[in-house]
Amino acid sequence: MCGIVAYTGPKKAYPILIKGLQRLEYRGYDSAGVALLNGDIRVYKRKGKVSELEDFAKDKNLSGSVGIGHTRWATHGKPDNINAHPHQSGDGNIVLVHNGIIENYAVLKEALSENGHTFKSETDTEVLVHLIEEIQNQYNNLPLEEVVRVALTKVIGAYAIVVIDKKDPDKIIAARRQSPLVIGIGEDEYYIASDATPIVEHTKHVVYLGDGEIASVEPKKELQIKTIDENETQIPAIQELDMKIEQLEKGGYDYFMLKEIHEQPKSIADCMRGRISAEDGWVLLGGVEEQAKKFAEAERIIIASCGTSWHAGLIAEYLIEDLARLPVEVEYASELRYRNPIITDKDIVLAISQSGETADTLAALQIAKEKGALIYGIVNAVGSSIARMTDAGSYIHAGPEIGVASTKAFTGQVTLLTLMALSLAKKRGTITDEYFQKLLVEIEKIPGKVEQVMKLNEQIEYIAGEIQHANNALYLGRGYNFPIALEGALKLKEISYIHAEGYPAAEMKHGPIALIDENMPVVVICTNKSAYEKIISNVQEVKARKGMVIAIVTEGDKEIKKIADYTIEIPDTEEPLTPLLSVIPLQLLSYHIAVMRECNVDQPRNLAKSVTVE
Ligand code: AGP
Ligand code: GLU
Repeated sequence: MCGIVAYTGPKKAYPILIKGLQRLEYRGYDSAGVALLNGDIRVYKRKGKVSELEDFAKDKNLSGSVGIGHTRWATHGKPDNINAHPHQSGDGNIVLVHNGIIENYAVLKEALSENGHTFKSETDTEVLVHLIEEIQNQYNNLPLEEVVRVALTKVIGAYAIVVIDKKDPDKIIAARRQSPLVIGIGEDEYYIASDATPIVEHTKHVVYLGDGEIASVEPKKELQIKTIDENETQIPAIQELDMKIEQLEKGGYDYFMLKEIHEQPKSIADCMRGRISAEDGWVLLGGVEEQAKKFAEAERIIIASCGTSWHAGLIAEYLIEDLARLPVEVEYASELRYRNPIITDKDIVLAISQSGETADTLAALQIAKEKGALIYGIVNAVGSSIARMTDAGSYIHAGPEIGVASTKAFTGQVTLLTLMALSLAKKRGTITDEYFQKLLVEIEKIPGKVEQVMKLNEQIEYIAGEIQHANNALYLGRGYNFPIALEGALKLKEISYIHAEGYPAAEMKHGPIALIDENMPVVVICTNKSAYEKIISNVQEVKARKGMVIAIVTEGDKEIKKIADYTIEIPDTEEPLTPLLSVIPLQLLSYHIAVMRECNVDQPRNLAKSVTVE
């Protein structure tokens, strides 16, 4: 996790670094720090948010047109001022920030200690800056890029780093393995960052540094890129950024999460644009068409993802098996990668990821690739590692998602997966023309219906007030809405710190029913048409034990109203499309509860947006 930003050029570095760190704060907020080079090197770092660093640094010397910055998500060593990045070499000349984990840091640290190095922090990162210093001392006069490259050949682990050296001012070295880095090319200046958000307001020309590559930037000089292991020169592929600054601001909302919830009518429509026409009766995904032969021959789809993206994967299992009659397995990427799975060239492995940088998902894909499967990415962040390593894929086009709790990316993923299921169903002849057409017509109406659900905001806020003091909550759903129960519970846990469990409604009586009493809010998603009677029975079972039922129902529902404490009525749609509507009230519910409990909605404790460490 963590955010990295760096600048070298004619401008003052500090404001660029601070603004960049604010944009990247969603990636980690245990501490923040900067190093500025202007003859001497000054390092300012502070535990906590970027605003605390700003307070601390405001009366300090902030000059310098070369600088590097970091927001941390701690892996090795507690979040405090000393463990905060940047870290410095023993002589103080070399300064480095790092995202990732140096796995062999203990061995390196021991060897370096024997050579007289002393360490101030508990981080793995500090070992790397001492290693660079050690190599610089060993090989006199080696250029900085070569010193860093040689040091990295001795490192095992995942990293994105940027390094500056007082003896080689103006120059910044950047390198990556598994963690992302983007280089922005301005006029006589360079920007480097973990993603494009700190860069977009300065330049649209970027190079995504490739895995295992090291770059050297210096104003007025060409960008130099080499491979770390083979030391081979690479030709930089310059790309144009397609991102607007407004997408990175709150636009009048109190939190990014609320803004992103409200963006969903548009983001779902954006995801469908050019991919479907109910009028002409077609649905088409470029990536699927490109790999039509592989999809036609596939015997199975395996989905690898984490967290909310895994929940989208579970919905895809229902969709693809139901509509396209193709077997689907949904795996936690973190489990798949370590469990000797059976994957063959007859499988298609779908990676679902908002960030496109989740370390476990990347590793699972790597394994799938080695085993010969076609790997397909369903990704939001354009140019991200997953998007670049897959054989084919589809972007969900939700625009940057900043709130740590995923909302619009989730509905984008589910929309895309629905289109994929429909396209496969049509190709495989597993859907009637009539039902296919009905679903096309209905899915085109989803953005408008999501808009209608937004109008329930006040009612949902009221219900949030009624349950804000709960210590536990249960979320129940069946079929297509079972993954929505999991997603609703995850949203509540991550931003309001209320313990919540999602369960298939019928599974409740095999254990969790023991938890139900008058203090337990139970959110039940009752929009299913199939198994409707069954879900009524589940609600009755909860009421019989005095649980408080908040039911998400279809407009006009009469039965559940009679028994539930609160009902939230959402528009009717075809059953496979209900997750796209039923999730919205749950996003709003968790949002309001978190606000009432005075939690930091966009930056919940202990979490980070991109989990680039395993
Ligand atoms: C979502 O609200 C979470 N913060 C988290 O579970 C997230 O979905 C997960 O880390 C996967 O991230 P990705 O989609 O970027 O791969
Ligand atoms: N492993 C490093 C640390 O704990 C970097 C973590 C990060 O990516 O923020 O400081």
